[in-house]
Amino acid sequence: IQLGAQLYAGKAKILYATSDPNVLLAYYKDDATAFNAQKRGTIANKGEVNCAIATNLFKYLESKGIATHLIEQVTTDRQTIKAVKILPLEVVVRNIAAGSLVKRTGLELGTKLNQAIVEFYYKKDELGDPLFTDAHIALLELATPEQLQQLRKLGLEVNQHLQAFFNQCDLTLVDFKLEFGLDQQGNILLADEISPDTCRLWDQRTDNPSDRVLDKDRFRQDLGNVAAAYQEVMTRIQAAFAN
Ligand code: C5P
Repeated sequence: IQLGAQLYAGKAKILYATSDPNVLLAYYKDDATAFNAQKRGTIANKGEVNCAIATNLFKYLESKGIATHLIEQVTTDRQTIKAVKILPLEVVVRNIAAGSLVKRTGLELGTKLNQAIVEFYYKKDELGDPLFTDAHIALLELATPEQLQQLRKLGLEVNQHLQAFFNQCDLTLVDFKLEFGLDQQGNILLADEISPDTCRLWDQRTDNPSDRVLDKDRFRQDLGNVAAAYQEVMTRIQAAFAN
């Protein structure tokens, strides 16, 4: 694949143009950031591990009828993806109270939600990615009401599929973040990545509250063994995917 101009340098990925205007190349980096990039570091092999995890999960979701931007994994840390216009919204789906939901609501960490909830955050570094209501989204014309309804539905569908898949891996899907993009025809495609950077995953094989964390919270909270946790998630996903 012929690499073109660097189009976007994100915190964990770099996107390059290719000779085909409809195809981009995503390069997964080992760099990690948290708290709106106030905390920075690297996680050994994260690029390759997250690329493998995201590829497997996107293929799984495609097999369940979810349209994604993924074309194929081309090297250990690179994927070709369809060029889309990313909607400036982070779609967060939660099954269990953790992170900002605990801070916002006072619910105890680990409280099971009676039903999954979907939240939208405005992707805007300068503002620290604030929680947005439907009214805020309409005000800034970030998505139409129809698109918003579709994003909610897609978020919950992806949640159903991922919960089932991760359960096979003895992993509990606490919460996760999705991003979506629009293709030339205006179709909504699942974009960005799904990985331990973007999900909270708790190990069902232990009840120890710090051992069970197999995601970026290990980095955020300096729990140690970050790379090993990511590796463990990859190993379990690949085993489940092989079945
Ligand atoms: O921090 P918070 O509890 O709102 O995060 C909810 C979920 O969304 C977590 O799984 C977190 O890893 C993910 N997230 C993300 N990127 C962000 C914010 C949150 O992947 N910018």
